[in-house]
Amino acid sequence: MIGNILLLLNIVGALIQACPSGWTAHGERCYFFSVVVGSWADAGSYCRNFRGKLAEPRDSIDVVFLDGEVRDKHVTQGEYYLGGADFFVEGEWEWASSFDSITNSHWGPGEPNDHYGREDCLALTLSGFWNDVPCNTSLPFVCEIENDYSQGTIG
Ligand SMILES: *[C@@H]1O[C@H](CO)[C@@H](O)[C@H](O)[C@H]1NC(C)=O
Repeated sequence: MIGNILLLLNIVGALIQACPSGWTAHGERCYFFSVVVGSWADAGSYCRNFRGKLAEPRDSIDVVFLDGEVRDKHVTQGEYYLGGADFFVEGEWEWASSFDSITNSHWGPGEPNDHYGREDCLALTLSGFWNDVPCNTSLPFVCEIENDYSQGTIG
């Protein structure tokens, strides 16, 4: 009985600690808010080098989580790239990993405005809304990876 409880606690502990150091667990994913900056393409490369991708908050729960993290913990860093763009067809916003249309958008007032016809990449603003920015702007970014429960060690 006690043994079973200890085993369970160890499993739960392993689940909670499943994200790499410096990443934040949320639901089935881990998120990383960078300090390093780069273009949208650079940002995607950084994430992919660690088998991740630029964050693609697909439902309102993820959107609210990322907004809160940026507002509460990463305010000084400026806007953050997310994994969406409309550089194939202007106005058709897609998630980078799948080409799926972005359906849960959280644009700020008046956005996306494609300012000067140059804003085709998705960023999360400090106020928690989305903005379209030129893809060559140097910004920090948010990566996501799957929170791989199976990697936790038991016992
Ligand atoms: C981004 O590209 C545009 C168009 O080529 C250029 O005018 C602008 O200076 C570039 N911005 C940066 C930050 O490199």
